[in-house]
Amino acid sequence: MNRPPSSTQAIPAIGAGPQHVAIIMDGNGRWAKKRFLPRVAGHKRGLESVREIVKACIERGIPYLTLFAFSSENWRRPAEEVSFLMGLFMRALEHEVAKLHKNGVRFRVVGELSRFDPELVELIRRGEALTAGNTRLTLTVAANYGGRWDILRAIERMLAAQPDKRGEFTEADLEPHLAMAYAPEPDLFIRTGGEERVSNFLLWQLAYTELYFTDMLWPDFDAAALDAAIASYRSRERRFGRTSEQLGEQRGEIAPGRARTDA
Ligand code: IPE
Ligand code: IPE
Ligand code: MG
Repeated sequence: MNRPPSSTQAIPAIGAGPQHVAIIMDGNGRWAKKRFLPRVAGHKRGLESVREIVKACIERGIPYLTLFAFSSENWRRPAEEVSFLMGLFMRALEHEVAKLHKNGVRFRVVGELSRFDPELVELIRRGEALTAGNTRLTLTVAANYGGRWDILRAIERMLAAQPDKRGEFTEADLEPHLAMAYAPEPDLFIRTGGEERVSNFLLWQLAYTELYFTDMLWPDFDAAALDAAIASYRSRERRFGRTSEQLGEQRGEIAPGRARTDA
């Protein structure tokens, strides 16, 4: 599959739904704390939201969904929580990959996998290989991912690929070396849990993404909440540096004060 063009170059149709939704799934710990449960109970519940949102994206014909599951900074958490998350990821892969495949989902993982248990890496690679030919939904899980790591690695790779181009590199030279080069840039970014920050997620790719923040905690996030985020997205005018009047002209509207005389 060829990489769809950057949305900063090819403008999506006005009123169109998002083609790529990227989510920071935050608030699992607080969800559990509110119920006097251990934090990890929130992560377990969060997996149910993942299932629901994957299904909802398939039903809505959204071709790309990207979920931030573990950041490069999350290693700073208590060792027991990190190992619980790794175990949860393993069990999810063991149980869900066949279902994803049956539903036409292409599964991908982006992030620095070298720090993961080799058994987990093997499961990831097998899942990716099994589902590589699917086209209904590309589900990307960002695991031990950091936006800065991604950009730095892409620069290294770009320099290795074209060592003589120094001084003449363009954005288009770098993009094929980013971890998510197979996907268009996200149209809609959602963060649950109330924090309004990007936390080192897809830094390069979010340049012109519409941002949506909700106080809802990830284990409470469901298809109706996704629809609310999509409705907010649809109400926005994506200008990519242009003026609102220019976009009106593209839509065939006549800008005020600039009535056409040739009609
Ligand atoms: C997000 O929920 C899940 C991961 C980072 C793995 P948190 O665990 O960050 O939940 P809060 O922010 O503490 O509520
Ligand atoms: C961001 O959540 C990463 C994931 C959801 C995987 P955090 O809860 O770790 O983010 P910060 O550190 O509070 O910004
Ligand atoms: Mg958090």
